[in-house]
Amino acid sequence: MAEYNVDIPFQVPFVHRLRFTRDVLDADQQVLVDLLQGSGEQPPKVQFWVDEFVANANPELKARLRRLAQCQRDRFSLIGNIQICPGGEAVKNDIHVIERMLKCMHAADLDRRSYVVVIGGGAVLDAVGFAAAIAHRGIRLVRLPTTTLAQADSGVGVKNSVNLFAKKNWVGTFAVPWGVLNDQSLLKTLPDRDFRCGFSEAVKVSMIKDAKEFARIESAAGAIAARDMRVVGPVIQRSAELHLDHITRGGDPFEALEARPLDFGHWSAHKLEVMSQFELRHGEAVAIGVAVDTVYSALVHGLPMTDADRVLQTLRRLGLTLDHPVLHETEELFSGLEEFRQHLGGRLTLTMIPEIGSKLDVHEVNRPKMLEAITRVADFVRGESKAN
Ligand SMILES: NC(=O)c1ccc[n+]([C@@H]2O[C@H](COP(=O)([O-])OP(=O)(O)OC[C@H]3O[C@@H](n4cnc5c(N)ncnc54)[C@H](O)[C@@H]3O)[C@@H](O)[C@H]2O)c1
Ligand SMILES: [Zn+2]
Repeated sequence: MAEYNVDIPFQVPFVHRLRFTRDVLDADQQVLVDLLQGSGEQPPKVQFWVDEFVANANPELKARLRRLAQCQRDRFSLIGNIQICPGGEAVKNDIHVIERMLKCMHAADLDRRSYVVVIGGGAVLDAVGFAAAIAHRGIRLVRLPTTTLAQADSGVGVKNSVNLFAKKNWVGTFAVPWGVLNDQSLLKTLPDRDFRCGFSEAVKVSMIKDAKEFARIESAAGAIAARDMRVVGPVIQRSAELHLDHITRGGDPFEALEARPLDFGHWSAHKLEVMSQFELRHGEAVAIGVAVDTVYSALVHGLPMTDADRVLQTLRRLGLTLDHPVLHETEELFSGLEEFRQHLGGRLTLTMIPEIGSKLDVHEVNRPKMLEAITRVADFVRGESKAN
């Protein structure tokens, strides 16, 4: 028999659907319903999953979802109870939660043309998204992010995961969501601390892609921190667009290449989260990571130090903390560089910022300069508190 060896490149077409609404459970419910496309005679089966803290903060939510399902019963059929799952990083830190989710999806007889609609913060989206991605090798997932971070960043992404072996996102898949619906009303109950977190990712993506957007966030930082939704809405929208643009047009949605520019500031952020035993939220750790890599970019890669100061000031005016005791456990922190490399394989590749709005891939870190960057960020915070 003749040998048959071929390498055939092929592409898989995906559609990413992103919607923005103000009141998805009421006036704008049609936007959600229109995402739930049926195929065949019967309306599609839908299972809702809700973040426990979102459910607790909105005692009416379950009843509203049931009412919505009742009104729209010719468009989709709600299967079983509305499922509540642990909120925050806890949902990602216990692998058994995934098994429980799979059992519920199995008990509801969901199939590949059914929908899992998940309402929650980024952690819940990641965990439910992972379960939905492996059930039947993929049930359609519709995300309704309820945090600024998830609306501005993770919700539009094509990744899901949970933590394992004390490592962030160690187990997960790439899976394109069926749809993402960013609804402003879902942010109302978000505590201030979590509200601020999303803007570290908005600053991050503006720094690598859009200098004008950075300037807008810089000048609006006070209004954003004060939750002025007329300002917040467009900033979240732009951040989601920039993330989505990178995923759909950046040429590497499943991160096969070395560079991961959206992970600017994240090599340390992921490690800081774990080192602080998740006392630091992802968005808070990202603020610190972005601050450190920005100052490092100024020390090593030509970013003017005055621009680095603007970034630190913007993050502070957004209400984000830029220091934490674990930042100074530098030996352990630096082991995060190797973990970051291992997660991707290949050469260590970090994104740095030669000027605001553009990026540079680097493959090594000058540790004394990185230590200096950490000290400068801590000094900045100290100087600020002395001034007050
Ligand atoms: N998949 C990706 O591409 C990607 C990208 C960035 C971050 N992430 C992950 O996202 C997670 C962080 O997500 P997050 O910042 O959205 O925080 P989170 O999901 O941890 O939510 C923060 C807290 O707020 C609660 N909450 C959420 N929405 C609420 C609301 N509207 N009202 C009241 N309480 C609410 C949550 O239950 C939780 O306790 C991390 O695990 C991070 O690794 C994933
Ligand atoms: Zn992030």
